Amino acid sequence: MKVTRLFFSAMLFAGMAFTMQSCGGDTSTKSEEKATTKVEEKVVVEDNPMALGEKIYMEKCVVCHQANGEGIPGAFPPLKNSDYLFADKVRAVAQVLNGSNEVMIVNGVSYSAPMPQQVNTKEEAVAVINYVLNSWGNDGGKVTLEDVKDVVIDPRQ
Ligand code: HEC
Repeated sequence: MKVTRLFFSAMLFAGMAFTMQSCGGDTSTKSEEKATTKVEEKVVVEDNPMALGEKIYMEKCVVCHQANGEGIPGAFPPLKNSDYLFADKVRAVAQVLNGSNEVMIVNGVSYSAPMPQQVNTKEEAVAVINYVLNSWGNDGGKVTLEDVKDVVIDPRQ
């Protein structure tokens, strides 16, 4: 009886080890896939400013403004259909460069939490704002580097 149980646990252990190993196998394939995606990503990003904007959005903005651009009502304002955003694109570029700490009304809802500085260059700021202006059904037009030439980048904190 005891032997059978021992044998059974050994089988179970072997089974687990096998499963773990096959997961490990998956990871190595995934990292290869990742490497390929990175090369492709670089090409796409250089040729396509919308792709750069999307990359920045997914890395930096998505935690607060959410994948659907709707934010979190009362905490993080929406970028989808934002009357405040559409009213002043240059201001939006300045806000991602320098942060924002004011009370603002976006689509009738008041927001007052501060947004920290998000990006360091005007190129990045323009790319991400253009992505936001043209995502989730937004038809917000474009902002150019020329439009934001007078924006002053505050010293980094
Ligand atoms: C830590 C959370 C957080 C992150 C990350 C963040 N934001 Fe914000 N964002 C806020 C908050 C909070 C406000 C409101 C700020 C205020 O009241 O002064 C805001 C305001 C804005 C506004 C103006 C209001 C509106 O809804 O139109 C824009 C545009 C904006 N963010 C874009 C971005 C972009 C683009 C990124 C990424 C590069 C980003 N934010 C990253 C929290 C965040």
